[in-house]
Formats: sequence, C-alpha cells, structure tokens
Amino acid sequence: MHSFEDTRPLARAVAEEMGAVHRDIELHHFPDGESRVRVRSAENARAAIVRSLDRPNGKFLEVLFAADALRRCGVEELVFVTPYLAYMRQDAVFRDGEALSQRVVGELLGRAFDEVVTVEAHLHRIRELSEVVPCRSRSISAAPIIGEWCRSGGYDVVVGPDLESEPWVRQVAEIAGVRWVVCEKIRSGDRSVEVEVPRLGDSARSALLVDDIASTGVTLVRATEKLRSRGIDRVDAAIVHALFDDAIATQLRKAGVERLVSTDTVAHASNAISVAGILAQELVSSPPPHPHATGDV
Ligand code: R5P
Repeated sequence: MHSFEDTRPLARAVAEEMGAVHRDIELHHFPDGESRVRVRSAENARAAIVRSLDRPNGKFLEVLFAADALRRCGVEELVFVTPYLAYMRQDAVFRDGEALSQRVVGELLGRAFDEVVTVEAHLHRIRELSEVVPCRSRSISAAPIIGEWCRSGGYDVVVGPDLESEPWVRQVAEIAGVRWVVCEKIRSGDRSVEVEVPRLGDSARSALLVDDIASTGVTLVRATEKLRSRGIDRVDAAIVHALFDDAIATQLRKAGVERLVSTDTVAHASNAISVAGILAQELVSSPPPHPHATGDV
C-alpha cells in the first residue's frame, strides 16, 4: 500500500487493519510547479495507491504518475483507494459548452487502474460508480459508521439537507434508531442556498444534521439557522467529506452548530470518525481476479 503524505495517516491505518505493508510515495515539487513522483520498489504483483482527491487538480496528475511508476516496477493489479473522489458532482452538462468532468476523470482512472475504491461518491444521476469509472470500481457507504456514531448522541431527529439525501439519511437514522426528516434546498449559486425545514414535532429539542459533503458549508449554515429558529436547542453536524476551511467552521459555530464531526476521508480538524475499518474490510473482501496478482492489498 503506497500513499502520499496528505493521506498518510489514513493509509497507514488501513494497512495496519489489513496487515499489509505500507510505503511512502516520494513527492518533489519543482520551482516551476511541476511534480516528480517516486515510488519505493513494489515486490508484489498487486499494489494500491491511497490518496484523497480534495483540491484535486494537481493531486490527480501525481496519482497518474504514481500509477505509471508502479506499473514500471512490475505491478500487474493496481488499486486506487481514494477516500474522497472529486468531480463526481459535475455529472451533467448543466449549461451549453461545459465539459462532462465526471466522465473525463472516470475514464482516466479506469485506464490507469484495475480497481478503484472510494467512500460515499456523490452519485445522483447514476447508480453505480462503475458506470463512470470503467474498471472494478465501487463506492462504499459511510452510513453505517455515521449511524453508529449517532446512536449514542441522544438526538431527537436526524436531518438531511435536501430531498436527494433521503435514502442515505434514512439509512443513518435507522442504524441510530432515531427519527429522520429531509429539508428542501434551493441553490442559486455556489454560496447562495435556501433551506426549508419540514415539521419536526413539538418534542424535538436536539438534531443531528448529516450530509455526504460540506464544501462551502453554506448548506449546513442555512439548515442550522432554520433548525435553531424552530426551537431546536442542540444542533450537531456529522459529515463524510469535510472540504471547507477553518473560517467556515467558525461560521458554522456562529450559526449554532455545537459539535461538528467528520470522517477522515479528507484530513480536517473536525475528523472524529475513521473510515479505515470499512476500507480495509472492502479491500480484504475483494480478492484479485488475476491468479498471479497476490500482494500487499
Ligand atoms: C449536495 O447535494 C450535497 O449533498 C451537499 O449538500 C452540498 O454539496 C454541500 O455544499 P455546500 O457545503 O457548498 O453548501
């Protein structure tokens, strides 16, 4: 299992869970902005690269370089473990002249890797990741670990930010054994969002907001404001991929979020729930199809 520095703590934890060897990928940034990637020798025919693709543009190219380097070392079965996979929300040509970015990213990964594993890819218009990443690719759900975390929180209701989140929110809430609702969201710009909260019942005093991604954090801010205005005394938030910076975390607290937690798919100050276990389990339970491709993942 080979990792870049930005995803190293999670990669080490996954390797440890699996009893696999972990190796650092060496990365050098030249003064002109180019990157040089160097892998430590790979003794096995099957190997994995671990890297999250938050702030994706430079990282993506470096991952492709690392894939090329491992192939040159003789790796036959190459797995990309990307706890956060970017560009999955750009899944349609929303306005004339735009690229279908999700497809471009998916096809490049499908060509470079034999297998791609991610967590909670944002798939609205397609059902399976393999429809856009043409190899043995799949997205695993973080609902079980978020639901388990929520179980001991004493919440009256679990709240999803938009109608599309319903199946996921229901799954989290059922695992936690808590009632759930979803809001209606209207987005008119990157940072311009309106959220309508449905009836919560008179007895509801504490709520856990859950979402797969918080990017600008505006969705969470608006939903929190609405929940507070409805008499909810305690609003906490649990998200899978925390992509926002510290300034937004401050705004969230000002809006009334008491506790903010995220999974470690993206390294962030709010990380409190690890995906290492579910990733390791997924990798162990997917044996290599190639008979000679035994290795460290
Ligand atoms: C949207 O469908 C997602 O589930 C999130 O609600 C959205 O990406 C959050 O974005 P932001 O934090 O920028 O409001």
